[in-house]
Amino acid sequence: MSAIQVKDLIYEVPGKRILDHINLEINAGEIVSIMGQSGSGKTSLLKMLTGLRAATSGSILIDGVDIVGLSERELDKVRLKTGLVFQYAALFDSLNVYDNIVFGVTRHKVSSGARPGRAQLDQMVSELLAEVELPGMEERMPSQLSGGQQKRIGLARALAMKPEFVFYDEPTSGLDPITARTIDDLIITTRDRNQVTSVVVSHDLASIFRISDRIAMLDQGRVVFYGTPEEARLSKVDMVQRFIASELPGAAH
Ligand SMILES: Nc1ncnc2c1ncn2[C@@H]1O[C@H](COP(=O)(O)OP(=O)(O)OP(=O)(O)O)[C@@H](O)[C@H]1O
Ligand SMILES: [Mg+2]
Repeated sequence: MSAIQVKDLIYEVPGKRILDHINLEINAGEIVSIMGQSGSGKTSLLKMLTGLRAATSGSILIDGVDIVGLSERELDKVRLKTGLVFQYAALFDSLNVYDNIVFGVTRHKVSSGARPGRAQLDQMVSELLAEVELPGMEERMPSQLSGGQQKRIGLARALAMKPEFVFYDEPTSGLDPITARTIDDLIITTRDRNQVTSVVVSHDLASIFRISDRIAMLDQGRVVFYGTPEEARLSKVDMVQRFIASELPGAAH
């Protein structure tokens, strides 16, 4: 069974169909990128997958559980398995790096009655900071971090919950190419070390081709291509070719 199965997903707002019969299967441990022109429905799809916005019809199975139509309380249980890394890191400005990272863990563990000790949290934060290559940054405030560093702390915060799924919204946008490649490497090591299933919404074609096991191309709310990067390069689908030709000079055949 696939880790994520999207079946006949439709999302409509009054007067407009935004997602049109989306079908996608994402295997456990896979990195799937969603690409497409502005307005094609990428963010809408990510919001459906994370239950942030309710689908009009169809189903989204996360580990076999259909999240379409679940109550907020039931959705919260599924959300414990998922991490979200937003386009803007969305750190709490008034909390230092340490408190940002432990925020979700302490809140969740307190409500479930198993509060981890300080030493345990210290060790977890120190390991996560090493993983995102920002060791020793516990005391820094978000305002003292660069954009790329904030994104990495955002990833550390998501990983603190030990998610089975991580959803990334434009993780490399606004970063220089070298920092962007560092984030790419982190997305890959996160998958390899923690066996997470990853869905990445991105405009960054270089990144998409580096990290993806499979790529889904959206056009006007439809999936017009779903395959490996190699298959994308060879694809005869017009939109795929235009995308590759416009953004990766020399890559189109
Ligand atoms: N709540 C809404 N009401 C009306 N239209 C919406 C709503 N949400 C999204 N849309 C429209 O749906 C389409 C898809 O939007 P979406 O944000 O998913 O695009 P996107 O692929 O993420 O684009 P971008 O690359 O610019 O971020 C757009 O035409 C957008 O204007
Ligand atoms: Mg978007």
